[in-house]
Amino acid sequence: MTEKILVTGGAGFIGSHTTLALLEVGLEVVVLDNLSNSSDIALRRVEDICGKSLTFIEGDIRNSQILDDLFNEHRISAVLHFAGLKAVGQSVRMPLNYYDNNVVGSISLFNAMARAGVFNLVFSSSATVYGEPTQMPISEDFPTGIPTNPYGRSKLMVEDVLRDLSLSDPRWSVGLLRYFNPVGAHESGIIGEDPNGIPNNLLPYVSQVAIGKLKHLSVFGNDYPTPDGTGVRDYIHVQDLADGHLCALQKILQTNGVNIWNLGTGIGYSVLEIIRAFEEASGRAVPYQVVERRSGDIAQCWAAPEKATRELGWSAKRNLLDMMTDTWRWQLGNPQGYGH
Ligand code: NAD
Ligand code: UFG
Repeated sequence: MTEKILVTGGAGFIGSHTTLALLEVGLEVVVLDNLSNSSDIALRRVEDICGKSLTFIEGDIRNSQILDDLFNEHRISAVLHFAGLKAVGQSVRMPLNYYDNNVVGSISLFNAMARAGVFNLVFSSSATVYGEPTQMPISEDFPTGIPTNPYGRSKLMVEDVLRDLSLSDPRWSVGLLRYFNPVGAHESGIIGEDPNGIPNNLLPYVSQVAIGKLKHLSVFGNDYPTPDGTGVRDYIHVQDLADGHLCALQKILQTNGVNIWNLGTGIGYSVLEIIRAFEEASGRAVPYQVVERRSGDIAQCWAAPEKATRELGWSAKRNLLDMMTDTWRWQLGNPQGYGH
């Protein structure tokens, strides 16, 4: 039986791009996704782009029977664990859902992995675990902060569970990937980010304003201690992130213990810089109004990505214009996303 990679949440934004990257290097992939925030159309398009097929199992990571059956049926060498809920505001309103999906779900997956003797895992963590650091750029040895919402706390909890797990059993090899701000879409314009309802994140909102679906952008505060007063973030192209997962996967297959890598570009852009860059890439206006700060937002956040470069041989290759152009191509070609 050939060894395969299990991708939980593989129908989602980052999971679909990473699944494509795995298939493109010749790996076999099993995707487990409950489609709670995605469409299986994304997976069909992944297959179309690379001309290879994958195995899709519609199911929930909290379902032990599905997991046991999956591990029995397929010889899995490693798991890339993307499945989870990610909307910060919703996590404040529905904390139990978030802890159940993200923490209970992850523990259910780790239990099934241990039962099946699979100990290689890459986990989708987030720069949110750093809280509000006083210094930039953020390196992996910064202390984790106090996340301001249940979503962020759920990520930190899973990181802690994995650290304890690895201390209890040296067979575990875990990569904690702390993403900064994932944006963009595959350069084909065929797969991309398809947010449910009105987007919370800046880039999907900006692109829906540019195409005329939304009237104007609200810029959340221009009185931050940043060069133009608006929030600064480290935006990273989703294809660079996908490549980062390939590199992390290779590494964890050769090592043991818990390794943490930031996946960011090391460059911060302000909200106003993003608006200008998007206008340039799309040739459309992005009208905006400055409003109050959004509660829980930090002023600035960008990565020190050198550890990933040193240890994984990875660095982000795509620049701001690529991120904006690819987001726009996806938006133009798929005004209704995957149409679900
Ligand atoms: P996404 O919502 O597009 O993808 C998550 C996928 O997981 C979806 O396809 C969803 O249907 C699936 N899913 C959710 N709960 C599940 C469950 N219980 N069982 C099975 N499948 C389930 O999100 P994304 O942007 O691709 O994010 C992927 C991961 O990266 C998430 O864990 C997220 O928290 C993390 N992350 C995302 C960002 C970001 O800004 N996009 C930043 C940092 C970390
Ligand atoms: N912003 C606006 N208007 C909007 C949306 C966002 O001005 O309509 C601003 C925010 O105030 C912030 C910047 O744009 O300054 C980026 O905001 P996003 O919501 O796109 O991203 P965040 O940095 O707030 O959060 C993202 C993910 C989280 C993750 C965090 C750290 O959504 O899941 O990065 O990795 F935890």
